[in-house]
Amino acid sequence: MRKTLLVANWKMNKSYADLEPYVSALVEQGIPKHIDLALAPPFPFLDKLRQSLKSSSIHLAAQNAHWESKGAYTGEVSFGILKELGVEFVILGHSERRQYFGESDAIVAKKVKACVDNKLTAIACVGESLEERKAERTFSVIEKQIHAVMEPLNSSENLVIAYEPIWAIGTGVTASANQAQEVHAFIRTLLAKHFASSESIRILYGGSMNASNSKELLQQADIDGGLVGGASLDAQSFLGIINNS
Ligand code: PGA
Repeated sequence: MRKTLLVANWKMNKSYADLEPYVSALVEQGIPKHIDLALAPPFPFLDKLRQSLKSSSIHLAAQNAHWESKGAYTGEVSFGILKELGVEFVILGHSERRQYFGESDAIVAKKVKACVDNKLTAIACVGESLEERKAERTFSVIEKQIHAVMEPLNSSENLVIAYEPIWAIGTGVTASANQAQEVHAFIRTLLAKHFASSESIRILYGGSMNASNSKELLQQADIDGGLVGGASLDAQSFLGIINNS
């Protein structure tokens, strides 16, 4: 049985002053026991957020990291540093990283491997563009991305996959539950070819998930949670998703 995982991806949003009220709103409501919840703030807020989350069951997540453990990499952050800050999950290979910061499948694979080696849970993101979907290349694109991530790994431990169709991210256009389930099921067959214990790997959906569409998405057999951007910025709208899960 895979426990539902909801991750708030704040991207480059929110401010220091927002942290306390946001966390209080979540904690006051109480996080249902059947859900794992993680917040991924911008790097500079991690430590403050860790303190705020101390007496709660909410996990800390980061949005990126470098694959090397240390060295002359100005502007970068290692998995070791994130671990010191109490981070447990790291979002890797998000399409915005791929698109704006030139992260190739090879780079994403190195990051996921380093993450897992550091015993942090990697949330490895994959997803096709609108052009690729229209050209009926969705499955081949996903297969290539998943293969790159899995290739260097010996076990499925500490691995979460996030399927995020690029055309659904921040656009208000969500993949239908059927469209998403179809790709999630395909990802699961790919994982099963590589890992004996692939059934335990959680596959999250991301792309304009909100309180109105989350229930149907999360009811699908192979959708094990959500990576939520826009709808996670406001505590009440994120709570809407949590309470629908
Ligand atoms: P969105 O972002 O929910 O705003 O579409 C999701 C993501 O990019 O992780």
